[in-house]
Amino acid sequence: MSILVTGGAGFIGSHTCIDLLESNYEIIVLDNFSNSSPEALDRVRTLSNRNFKIYDVDLLDRENVDQVFKENDIEAVIHFAGLKAVGESVQIPLHYYHNNITGTVILTHIMQKYGVYNLVFSSSATVYGIPDTVPITEDMPLSATNPYGRTKLMIEQILSDLYVSNNKWSIALLRYFNPIGAHESGLIGEDPNGIPNNLMPYITQVAVGKLNEVNVFGSDYSTPDGTGVRDYIHVVDLARGHLKALEKVKSSSGIEAYNLGTGKGYSVLEVIHAFENASGQKISYKIVERRAGDITECYADPTKAERELGWKAEKGIEEMCRDSWNWQSKNPEGYKTESKFFLSR
Ligand code: WQD
Repeated sequence: MSILVTGGAGFIGSHTCIDLLESNYEIIVLDNFSNSSPEALDRVRTLSNRNFKIYDVDLLDRENVDQVFKENDIEAVIHFAGLKAVGESVQIPLHYYHNNITGTVILTHIMQKYGVYNLVFSSSATVYGIPDTVPITEDMPLSATNPYGRTKLMIEQILSDLYVSNNKWSIALLRYFNPIGAHESGLIGEDPNGIPNNLMPYITQVAVGKLNEVNVFGSDYSTPDGTGVRDYIHVVDLARGHLKALEKVKSSSGIEAYNLGTGKGYSVLEVIHAFENASGQKISYKIVERRAGDITECYADPTKAERELGWKAEKGIEEMCRDSWNWQSKNPEGYKTESKFFLSR
């Protein structure tokens, strides 16, 4: 029996694949590589010393998705595949709705056809919209402030309807806060296309000399230093949360949402200073206008995941910064960097 990982070549997907392989799962990766690199999977194979099937397939390609299920004995799906850039989703909403929602409908339709009812879905804290209070619990009101966030919210609702229609389904909705960091080897990590939207990859590209300085989006928020506060979580902790959720969906039925965060918030300036301490690199920055759509403060109450999944984030901000820098310094051009590690083989 295998675990199908859609979007397994991505930042969180590749780290989860390593965890699955090291836990002796058989995995199959489905990815269209529209926002990821096959190189990431080569490095997953090397790091885990395990092999696995890869299907270069788009979830919108129903016939080929069906073929993946026809050819393999799949017991569960971890579904990462999806577009996730907030700003881009505002520019091309139809592309986001079609890609993320239709792709998920096709996937779950085919899962149902083959009697596969175990699903871990990559959701996001963005479904909380502008939270009334923090820390955020899973029962708080849901809303979305952009098309990307609305695709996540709509997919959660579609999956809830799916469970109501057939209670054989066993679904975990994992609401990530702000994933950063990288595998300790520095061989896999976050490799965004173009200029990074997110804070940490922007910082690491300044540190490695690709960008000049960080634009700090606003210093007039009602936070201790005026800059935005977020719950940063190490991608390795996040990957482990997926394995805990997989164990849960395999052993029960129902649908449950879980916050995957540390429960601690850090401001933009705190992250910049933590990164400087962890990397020894000076990070230039400039305070500029707020970014449209940003919220003041967002951090998790992660106690439901601790109670029901037996999962708790373990890595602190120093380790997140150190591992982010280790990845970027070894891979200044991301996966386009020729890795000395492989050249020496
Ligand atoms: C973090 C903080 C910015 C960049 C987004 C998505 C969310 C999820 C995680 C997918 C904020 C500030 C950022 C920069 C800055 N993705 N910042 N200068 O916006 O919390 O969440 O990524 O699920 O859906 O919305 O993350 O890293 O963009 O911003 O000052 O160049 O850093 O204002 O306070 P965000 P982020």
